Amino acid sequence: MLSIKNLSYSFQSEGNSNPIFNQISLDVKPGEFVSVIGASGSGKSTLFKLISGLLEPDQGDIMVNGQKTGKRLGSIGYMPQKDLLLPWRTVLENVLLPLEVTKEPKQARIPEIREWLSRFGLAEYEKAYPNELSGGMKQRVAFLRTLMTGKDLLLLDEPFGALDSLTKRNMHSWLLGLWGELQKTVLFITHDLEEAVLLSDRIYLLQDTGIKEMKVNLARPRSSQLIYQSEFITMRKELEWLIHNES
Ligand SMILES: Nc1ncnc2c1ncn2[C@@H]1O[C@H](COP(=O)(O)OP(=O)(O)OP(=O)(O)O)[C@@H](O)[C@H]1O
Ligand SMILES: [Mg+2]
Repeated sequence: MLSIKNLSYSFQSEGNSNPIFNQISLDVKPGEFVSVIGASGSGKSTLFKLISGLLEPDQGDIMVNGQKTGKRLGSIGYMPQKDLLLPWRTVLENVLLPLEVTKEPKQARIPEIREWLSRFGLAEYEKAYPNELSGGMKQRVAFLRTLMTGKDLLLLDEPFGALDSLTKRNMHSWLLGLWGELQKTVLFITHDLEEAVLLSDRIYLLQDTGIKEMKVNLARPRSSQLIYQSEFITMRKELEWLIHNES
């Protein structure tokens, strides 16, 4: 689905070079849920900007479904770190945006979108404006908008980063159920270790300019109660060990 080989990237500013990635490789198979974790500033959002084509690599290849730069964009639904809902548009109008971008007929899709809004707990809010929504609702609208792109590979940049822990837990149950059903491929940024272990098949850890990988061997379907089980705690410890042990 997604294959990144020997990717290098540096930001250049005022004659200084700030290396973010040095020859990193990663891959995501169809239907996988893969998280990317790392400290603030480690390059997580930059990685997504490279995958989605907002930035171009200095070196290396990024392929989506065997397609290189440019053409690969057709397969990606990207949810940026900030929800970026348009404040002057209602919930429904925000969700319709991807269809406008691709000039698809909107009216025919509205019943389907209403059904989604209802499943996302937003049925009453179709005509509401973003400033009337809670943080969790805004994230669900942004997520639904990403889903409406119809793409198979979803890049989600800290979708739950700004939520309190209770709301976050609800969103985890919700996303686990939804992902099980939709069979989308997800690359998910977080700096919440528990969230990464709970949701993922594999986790990539960004450190300095390199990358490490961990497999999450926990059975599916998973529930948010899994975090209290000993096998979950063992996985989480393993991840922390990985973070604190270089090389
Ligand atoms: N447009 C830019 N120009 C120059 N440097 C940038 C730019 N965008 C990001 N950087 C730098 O690149 C590094 C990685 O930034 P990035 O946003 O990818 O981090 P992140 O891992 O997503 O962090 P966070 O968890 O805070 O979102 C940081 O040191 C940042 O200052
Ligand atoms: Mg970021």
